[in-house]
Amino acid sequence: MEDGCARRTHIGTFIDGATPYEYGRGRPGDRFPKRRLRPTQPRTMLTMPVMPTTMLYPELFRALEEVRWRLDADVPWDAFDGALLTDEQARSIKMNAITEWAALPATEMFLRDNRHDSDFSAFLSIWFYEEQKHSLALIEYLRRFRPDLAPTETELHAVRFEFDPAPPLETLMLHFCGEIRLNHWYRRAAEWHSEPVIKRIYELIARDEARHAGAYLRYMKRAIERCGDEAKRAFTKLGVLMASPRRAGKPLHPTSLHVARGLFPNDTVQSRLPDPAWLQTWLDFQIRFDRDWEGRVIAMILHNLSSLFGQTFASAQELNRYRRSLAAACTCWRSTSSTWSPTLRIGLSAARGFWKIIDISRPRRSRIWSSVAVFTSMPENITEPSAILPARSRIRITA
Ligand SMILES: [Fe+2]
Ligand SMILES: [Fe+2]
Repeated sequence: MEDGCARRTHIGTFIDGATPYEYGRGRPGDRFPKRRLRPTQPRTMLTMPVMPTTMLYPELFRALEEVRWRLDADVPWDAFDGALLTDEQARSIKMNAITEWAALPATEMFLRDNRHDSDFSAFLSIWFYEEQKHSLALIEYLRRFRPDLAPTETELHAVRFEFDPAPPLETLMLHFCGEIRLNHWYRRAAEWHSEPVIKRIYELIARDEARHAGAYLRYMKRAIERCGDEAKRAFTKLGVLMASPRRAGKPLHPTSLHVARGLFPNDTVQSRLPDPAWLQTWLDFQIRFDRDWEGRVIAMILHNLSSLFGQTFASAQELNRYRRSLAAACTCWRSTSSTWSPTLRIGLSAARGFWKIIDISRPRRSRIWSSVAVFTSMPENITEPSAILPARSRIRITA
């Protein structure tokens, strides 16, 4: 903290100053009265001033400790009603549990690709813990009530594989968008489920995902402060792709993208589930994540990028125009070959659903700026879906 003063921190407070509701403390209409979440650390620790530092980890640690929910006390296990749980719902819980377990290889990827950033790496200890806890909560639910569907250790281990190295800034943005999307998916899952215990679990997890997005956004803001246009280019590039899911024809989430060339086509987390086709079925026919919900995800991405960049992006097209202006302003001549421009490693090809594994070489023309060349394959006119901006000028990520 620059001034060395302790101040209460909301992870979900976005850079425009909007304040989220108290995650984990409930809100009007919640089904279960919440106990006031107690910090798991001594109060004196939580209230002591944060040491002056430019690192975000200490502040994020404090804030996340304050709203941490407990598996034993905050899930109303005794309220289980078996008549309200169908087989298809239980099977989807299993797939969600295994998907959440994929935080393990993602953490290994993050730590490997961010050795230069000890602050962010330290934050990953929190993120990893909470993601594994999500998996554990879902597994525990199945263990208690549908033990025949609890994932085996082999099924969990199947989603642990090595991701190819990736540009850290693009990975950061990808996961920021992924957390936003997951927050909305789980909110829909909480609505779809009828059994009260699992509804509550999805509500709790959804709020965690929103907080994760808030934390990632803090690191994105810091990246812009430190890296300037390089970070902006990475964020807008991924932002355009993430805000245009229909171009990919598949859910644009880290678990559905190809991440390891040597394992293709079994190099997505989803492809390694017991039912690789589950995600699309879950989205289309179970939680019914329709156009309206997709619009909410896109609006949230655009809203937060608008705040991050200090200008309004009402649509993916507007964001794309801004991205192109950044690319045009780039003066980094990177080509070294006399015949070919360098092989360029593109972070993500939305059209093919790949992430991190597309290499291209281009014939050298007269002075091709590599940052521009990367995008020559991207259609200028992105029409689907049009963004829906929230009515309120300030919006919370879990509104
Ligand atoms: Fe999670
Ligand atoms: Fe998350």
